[in-house]
Amino acid sequence: MDYALKATGISKSYGAPDSRVEVLRNLNFHAASNEIVSFVGPSGCGKSTLFNIITGLLQPDSGQILVGDEETTGTTSEKIGYVLQKDLLFPWRTVIENVILGLELRGVNRREAREKAHDLLVRYRMQGYENVLPSQLSGGMRQRVALMRTMITDPEIILMDESYKALDYPLKIALEGELLETIKREKKTAIFITHDIEEAVTLSDRVYVMKARPGEIVDEIRIDLETDSPLIPERRISPQYNKYYELIWRKIGLPSVSV
Ligand SMILES: Nc1ncnc2c1ncn2[C@@H]1O[C@H](COP(=O)(O)OP(=O)(O)OP(=O)(O)O)[C@@H](O)[C@H]1O
Ligand SMILES: [Mg+2]
Repeated sequence: MDYALKATGISKSYGAPDSRVEVLRNLNFHAASNEIVSFVGPSGCGKSTLFNIITGLLQPDSGQILVGDEETTGTTSEKIGYVLQKDLLFPWRTVIENVILGLELRGVNRREAREKAHDLLVRYRMQGYENVLPSQLSGGMRQRVALMRTMITDPEIILMDESYKALDYPLKIALEGELLETIKREKKTAIFITHDIEEAVTLSDRVYVMKARPGEIVDEIRIDLETDSPLIPERRISPQYNKYYELIWRKIGLPSVSV
């Protein structure tokens, strides 16, 4: 198989040796080229830790990450573009300056970078906000700026950690649909990390289900909604949808809540 990313034996604990918290235990997973894969699991199961390990921002205690044929464990790869759970925009940079950051770092000239950014601003319905500072934007708008900042560098693999959380529902499904179309059209690979079963089922070709304490993969489910439509509502009403939702929900279960 043609792997875009492959991980074997990923484990991670935090804390001093006498008070270790085992967060991830022996994770094995992959994303094939042009595949959309999601990790879905409850809060605290180690999703953001896993995200940081895949991006190379965090070194696992054991295990290996391969991007294509290249080992990238503990180092960042230009092939991976990521959007963090918190948008982390630079507050002193305007919207357009935030969007072009990745291109600037790669030495692309400012005019070319700004032209690319303008196209994206139109697509993400943010035209007119070029020169506004992040503090003047809503949470959803800030998230869109973070998405544009990733998409503008045209990464092969797109990695996202709960990136749509701050958006209102209509905008969320519109942007998810657009993202799905872009990923398929431009033959990208995507890895979504989420606690949202609906998002995982509607967007993915395959879902890894995780449990908490320690975080482990408990199941792997191939999704076929029997539609090619990138429209999220169309996918959501697929007769197959409920079957997958139920399968995943039963694996994850509900957390116990004391009232
Ligand atoms: N730097 C750290 N040092 C110590 N413990 C940490 C650290 N980062 C995370 N943890 C712990 O590891 C566990 C997993 O955290 P993580 O943020 O990866 O989970 P998550 O699945 O992303 O949660 P959420 O759904 O709330 O975003 C939690 O119990 C957390 O308290
Ligand atoms: Mg998290």
